[in-house]
Amino acid sequence: MVAYYRSVLITGASSGLGRALAVECAAPGGGLHLSGRDVARLEATAAACRARGAAVQTRVLDVCDEAAMAAWITGAGRLDLVVANAGISAGTGRGRAESAAQTRAVFAANLDGMLNTALPALTAMRAQAPGPDGVRGRIAVVASIAGFVPAPGAPAYCASKAAADSWTVAAAQTARRDGIVMTSLCPGYVRTAMTARNRFPMPGLMEADRAARIMLRGIAAGRRRVVFPWWMGVAARLVGLLPPRLSGALLSIPPGKDGLPGEP
Ligand SMILES: NC(=O)c1ccc[n+]([C@@H]2O[C@H](COP(=O)([O-])OP(=O)(O)OC[C@H]3O[C@@H](n4cnc5c(N)ncnc54)[C@H](OP(=O)(O)O)[C@@H]3O)[C@@H](O)[C@H]2O)c1
Repeated sequence: MVAYYRSVLITGASSGLGRALAVECAAPGGGLHLSGRDVARLEATAAACRARGAAVQTRVLDVCDEAAMAAWITGAGRLDLVVANAGISAGTGRGRAESAAQTRAVFAANLDGMLNTALPALTAMRAQAPGPDGVRGRIAVVASIAGFVPAPGAPAYCASKAAADSWTVAAAQTARRDGIVMTSLCPGYVRTAMTARNRFPMPGLMEADRAARIMLRGIAAGRRRVVFPWWMGVAARLVGLLPPRLSGALLSIPPGKDGLPGEP
């Protein structure tokens, strides 16, 4: 059973974890604001949520469009939960370094896109009245266990997720004084379109609906960071303590990931 929120906004709801989060949050009387870039997949998520009784509004939107994101979020009305979920990965598969374009695209979606979601949400929530529990609203950022280690197979992804996690956990301290709960969500491997391109074993691979329920429980509990599976988080932290030459050699064993979504 996940907590009930009257109004939830989720980016990247057209696929994977975003879709699973939207479906888990969908309930009679609840309102969902969902965005993504692929119209057909976004509408498929909306239909699944409406079938569970939720009122759904969709917006086809690039998270990198700062002005459009601010207008969407500030125009959505009261928001109990905002999830900055949209993200992409690239990588060094086939022995190639990430191109400049790939590197910038990953940072733009995973960092600028995340900030384009979380910053207007913070502003909007500060103006909202607190609920009976004293909370004005909750903001969750989907980071990753990949942010705990600089893996040579996905440099931009690891760095962007490290920054997303660090910013969220640090910002949570002052946000709490304003009655806003912020949570950094750090999953291991989840079965989605993003991991479908991985050509290496993925320990602890989890279904998206199970991952979404773990995330929502952590958000409801007011945790600042949710890491799962826990043992993978511990392993990543331990590898991160090694000298870079050693951790780099260890993490180079699996092949890198190939390209951006849609690239051959
Ligand atoms: N899967 C994993 O193992 C895993 C582990 C840790 C963290 N994560 C994180 O979880 C989040 C969701 O990823 P996923 O695994 O569910 O992958 P996914 O199935 O590929 O979904 C990614 C979602 O992000 C959206 N998106 C990407 N770039 C966007 C942009 N510029 N503007 C708007 N929407 C954009 C996509 O929209 P369109 O498809 O409509 O373009 C899609 O809805 C990401 O932040 C990812 O880094 C995933």
